Amino acid sequence: MLKFVAVALLLTVFVAVGEQCCTPRQWESFVGIEETKAVAGKIQVTGSYAIESYDFDRKKIALVYPETGSRQVQDYGKGLLYMITGGQCYTNPWPYSMPRCIPDNATAIATFEMGGPDGLMVEQYDLSNFLPGFHGYMQFTMPGCLPVSQTQYYDSYVTIFGFTNITEGIRDPSVFDIPSPPCPRDMDNAVEPLLFRHVQP
Ligand SMILES: *[C@@H]1O[C@H](CO)[C@@H](O)[C@H](O)[C@H]1NC(C)=O
Ligand SMILES: *[C@@H]1O[C@H](CO)[C@@H](O)[C@H](O)[C@H]1NC(C)=O
Repeated sequence: MLKFVAVALLLTVFVAVGEQCCTPRQWESFVGIEETKAVAGKIQVTGSYAIESYDFDRKKIALVYPETGSRQVQDYGKGLLYMITGGQCYTNPWPYSMPRCIPDNATAIATFEMGGPDGLMVEQYDLSNFLPGFHGYMQFTMPGCLPVSQTQYYDSYVTIFGFTNITEGIRDPSVFDIPSPPCPRDMDNAVEPLLFRHVQP
């Protein structure tokens, strides 16, 4: 009997360790965005913010930028990115898989307690674990696996996203709507670098 209990306990521990840490299936967050770039040998810093809606059931992530009225929809089911701005809509390929869980083979490169005793426990990972080919870091609360921050390096750009006030569920699913008639796939070269600043490796 004792032996049986010991085996049962071991199995329980094994299952718990094998479980992946994932974000909720639906959540929303206020996202602070800071972008630093080199312009003619000087750094230029711009701050903005967005409301992010993450929906694993719809396989979509929407970012609404209240300051400019623009909206971005990443459609992981179709592999397309939609940019809706100033009454225009553009699409681009978006061939990534939707990040949700911390992969089994990812290892935390640092663990912090933000703010000190009874502070927020945070683990930091290399961004390439979630978005292959991207350079930077991603931080999650531990336990909980809610995103805390994402830092991306690309060429002469550094973009930092800070996630705050995360709530579960989707308040207004219309953030995921795509305008009709369908967006032109054709994107002019002037818009492309602007769009990809935030998102490409
Ligand atoms: C983890 O596994 C995936 C899929 O097998 C692989 O593409 C990726 O490079 C691995 N990551 C690490 C950090 O080993
Ligand atoms: C974040 O949540 C706090 C507490 O509910 C609230 O006071 C604050 O206004 C919220 N901030 C934003 C930017 O939504």
